[in-house]
Amino acid sequence: MIELNFSNMMEEVIGKNGLSERRIEGFRGRVEDAHEQIKDRRWPELAFIDLLSQDTSEIKNIARHIREETEDFLILGIGGSALGPRAILDALSPFHNLQKKPRVFIYENVDPRTLKQILSLIDLKKTSINVISKSGSTAETAASFMILWDEMKKILGNDAPKRFIATTDPEKGNLRKIVNEEGLKSLPVPPNVAGRYSVLSPVGLLPAEVIGIDSNELLRGARDIHEKCSEPELWKNPAYLFGTLLYLMDTEKKRKINVMIPYADSLKSLSEWFCQLWAESLGKLGVGLTPYPSVGTTDQHSQLQLWMEGPQDKVVIFIRVDDYGDDIKIPRIFKDMEGLNYLSGHTLSELIAAEEESTELALARAERPNMTITMPVINAYHIGQLFHFFELVTALTGFLYRVNPFNQPGVEEGKNLTYGMMGKKGYEAKRKEVEEAREKKICWRI
Ligand code: PA5
Repeated sequence: MIELNFSNMMEEVIGKNGLSERRIEGFRGRVEDAHEQIKDRRWPELAFIDLLSQDTSEIKNIARHIREETEDFLILGIGGSALGPRAILDALSPFHNLQKKPRVFIYENVDPRTLKQILSLIDLKKTSINVISKSGSTAETAASFMILWDEMKKILGNDAPKRFIATTDPEKGNLRKIVNEEGLKSLPVPPNVAGRYSVLSPVGLLPAEVIGIDSNELLRGARDIHEKCSEPELWKNPAYLFGTLLYLMDTEKKRKINVMIPYADSLKSLSEWFCQLWAESLGKLGVGLTPYPSVGTTDQHSQLQLWMEGPQDKVVIFIRVDDYGDDIKIPRIFKDMEGLNYLSGHTLSELIAAEEESTELALARAERPNMTITMPVINAYHIGQLFHFFELVTALTGFLYRVNPFNQPGVEEGKNLTYGMMGKKGYEAKRKEVEEAREKKICWRI
């Protein structure tokens, strides 16, 4: 089971920058209120919790088919529809494409160069395409789907639809319409599950199965952490403490930046997934916390100086791994060189663990708040725990801030202006707004 150590958030350890037990106790009422909201499912979007007991047999069938029939697997999606699959791929099958089939490509941005490069690497005759869009209307995913649909039709003719799997709303949206009209295979994203909370739906589970990961293990891990985090008592509930501590660090200690630093290359994408979940869920109504995705030890040689001696505005969240599964011993060579021989005989996992622990300690000594999530080993069971833990924490923290952690009104305006510029029907006024802004724009350019 993952574990949370928050000693370095407390005033006994880091002095005036830390929080007191009394202050946390005083916050109990607010957490109890949030607990009731979760327990009674007062928000329909808490439906992400229901995902933990879903039946995965259809996902497994489709994945088996993809593995047997194709050599490459191309995912089209963006935001919550791409970051989860990438986090699973990187965490559970690092360097996948160099050693395993089907190779996996995730096309999320609409950068034309990237798509050209992917198309030059894969053979569309042997490719399956998973288009993931809950709404079925996201411009980026719609554009890439249209391009790939056209290409596949040219190459495979009437067989093209057989190579597409749509992960989308079970009833609504353009993609569902195409599924119904063209007979595409499809998997549902439950209507009340918001995009960034959907990694444990077919959005993440199909890619997991395609790369040979048992989706039931991801769900089993999530169920176990859910049970632990259903505990009403604040001091026994890691999700409630995590959210409470970050909320109090922001509102009382002005620490608005959360650095997420796993000590494992394969968890870098998970840290990016967390950052999207955190930012899009909590940044609204003038409040919010800025997440920063990082990776240790690499960023000790890039960002740590700023965290140690820069502005007092951050909380650092470590993810520590107990057992890396693999290890390598540093050889006993260069015996006479004191600058190197101290490393001999140790293993790389000892070195990375020592660096992680030392960084925690150094930050604490500099009175910089930090906390640590320890995961015993990087496997599907524990990755499932991390996903669900962070989803619960994010929802809870939203309730503490009294914002809706499931919507994203701030991204709509940009989308609507884009629709106008691209000529979508009904958005003519938006196009005009852009044109007027261009004319009026005060331009400082050199
Ligand atoms: O979290 C969210 O809701 C968003 O990031 C969406 O996942 C993203 O905009 C993609 O949406 P869709 O899956 O509808 O294409």
